[in-house]
Amino acid sequence: MQVFQRVKDLSDFQQDLAAKGASLGFVATMGALHEGHLSLLKRSISENEASIVSIFVNPTQFNRAEDLQNYPIRTNEDLQLLEAAGCTAVFMPPVEEIYGDSVKSEQIDLVGLDQGMEGEFRPGHFEGVATVVKRFFEIIKPQRAYFGNKDYQQVLIVKHVAKLFNLPIEVVGVPTSRYSNGLAMSSRNFRLSEKGMEEATIIHQQMMWARANYKDLNPEALKAQIRLHFKASNLELEYVEFADSEGMHIVKEWSNHKSVRILIAAFCEGVRLIDNTSLY
Ligand code: PAF
Repeated sequence: MQVFQRVKDLSDFQQDLAAKGASLGFVATMGALHEGHLSLLKRSISENEASIVSIFVNPTQFNRAEDLQNYPIRTNEDLQLLEAAGCTAVFMPPVEEIYGDSVKSEQIDLVGLDQGMEGEFRPGHFEGVATVVKRFFEIIKPQRAYFGNKDYQQVLIVKHVAKLFNLPIEVVGVPTSRYSNGLAMSSRNFRLSEKGMEEATIIHQQMMWARANYKDLNPEALKAQIRLHFKASNLELEYVEFADSEGMHIVKEWSNHKSVRILIAAFCEGVRLIDNTSLY
């Protein structure tokens, strides 16, 4: 497995692949890898001749300084996991390699996909994500890129960025990896106690409850019930929302939308967790 830190060092690797006509799959990560990331890599390995993973904690997408400071760094473990999984290359640049001396987001028109939910509660987050993903796409030039559906709003935004800048990259949304109790795999789970990991399963339970009950209640009434269920738990709900699966428009009436997702953000032991799934 080759490990690169500088953009210029990637060029031999890329030329070699181009000479062989080999396709490159890309998985963008911020490290602290878990089974969910490995499932993205596995998919990339199965669909491409070579796969590259980036490890880069992107400063511009954090709207809370303490979130950036507390982000888990586990580089040695990450590299071992990637090597064992059969990854071809890793790109782990220092911040200045990506941002030069101007660590700020670009103005990119996200056509409203960044409105609501993560966009509302993490102002500036998606500008930071769009900026870094665009830069990685331009530097790495993969044929395919794999993103987890746990960050569903992000997947739509990344697809939009590839299209907006005419980047010839197929962006693939990959189903969320979950533990057997339903909890979505996330690097943030590393900060939860065993009790927290158990209590956090309410997020998945409530998504399943919504899926089972949405036909009997309108969106507002369903959200009110879910808020009550969270009040009786140890988690602090930040939002529960129903959004159109394609445009992320907030759903006011089920009958106006062909496909809807439920999206939740909640704090467990001070750690912010998000999840979503399709309602119908
Ligand atoms: O989902 C993430 O881990 C990040 O938002 C990403 C896509 C690696 C960009 O920094």
